[in-house]
Amino acid sequence: MNKSEAWTLKDLVSLEKLSREEIDTIHHMAAHFKQTLGRRQKKLPSLRGKTVVNLFLEPSTRTRTAFEMAAKRLSADVISISQSASSLVKGESLRDTALNIQALNADLLVIRHSAAGAAEYLSERLEIPVINAGDGAHEHPTQALLDTFTLREKFTPEGAEQLSDLSGRKITILGDILFSRVARSNIYAMQKLGAKVTLAGPKTLVPKSFEAFGVEVSHNLQEALADADAVMLLRIQRERMNAAYFPSIGEYTSMFGLNQERASLLKPDAIIMHPGPINRGVEIDSTIADGQRSVILDQVTNGVLCRMAVLLLTASAAGTKAKGSI
Ligand code: CP
Repeated sequence: MNKSEAWTLKDLVSLEKLSREEIDTIHHMAAHFKQTLGRRQKKLPSLRGKTVVNLFLEPSTRTRTAFEMAAKRLSADVISISQSASSLVKGESLRDTALNIQALNADLLVIRHSAAGAAEYLSERLEIPVINAGDGAHEHPTQALLDTFTLREKFTPEGAEQLSDLSGRKITILGDILFSRVARSNIYAMQKLGAKVTLAGPKTLVPKSFEAFGVEVSHNLQEALADADAVMLLRIQRERMNAAYFPSIGEYTSMFGLNQERASLLKPDAIIMHPGPINRGVEIDSTIADGQRSVILDQVTNGVLCRMAVLLLTASAAGTKAKGSI
């Protein structure tokens, strides 16, 4: 495969701006990495001599580690910077911090920030690729890429040469949609791949206004779960709330938490997803999180492959000399 196939973007700031062809390019590259990188060959030389800087100004376990592993598997050097260890705490602006990272000869910048639009803002001011690792409640594009890759893998018949898309699939996203960047990115990605998306949860966290995204909004859990091919649970993002959106966590769990009884409404072979971090006993029962139908840890593993593809494609589009082709 030619790695620039259907890819000209220097930056990855949102799923809203990606075409179906660009999503396919990332997924096909991730699938190729999965097939070829194993016990014998763990690394590719593609970004040797390049430096990826991870600027994470909000906490992260999965995304930050997966970006570090992805960069290392492409033979890049990686430097990770957190809010407390940066000069942002001394009053430096985000723009100046990023310009200094570029002046230090970084080749790619991965940014997580609490403000919606932070990644796009930097992408317009830097020459190097900027990759959005989550900006406030706006978007988390690489999360949606790994989620939809995981869905496609699970729905592709054994022995098929190409990944299936999501045509005809009903996917329910259940939980705190209002504050979720994961939900927004997944709505775009899932629909572009042909899925019918239903958003479910309390009225305060799943307002009808989301219908403008072309999705179904349901406050009836039974209806939302019935015949779904997959359900994605989202945690309550209390760190983004400045008011009470439901009476108590206990009440949320009793009305919207996914337990065995509610999971039995799904199709028998439906898959259960969560971007993490999971709050066991709140939005998801432990027996479901650890059960046979859960693909939560597959999502995490696939995150490295999709982020390898994103790093390689954006670096190539920016003219960063990537070695070899896949
Ligand atoms: N899913 C996700 O973004 O997890 P982290 O916050 O741990 O990166």
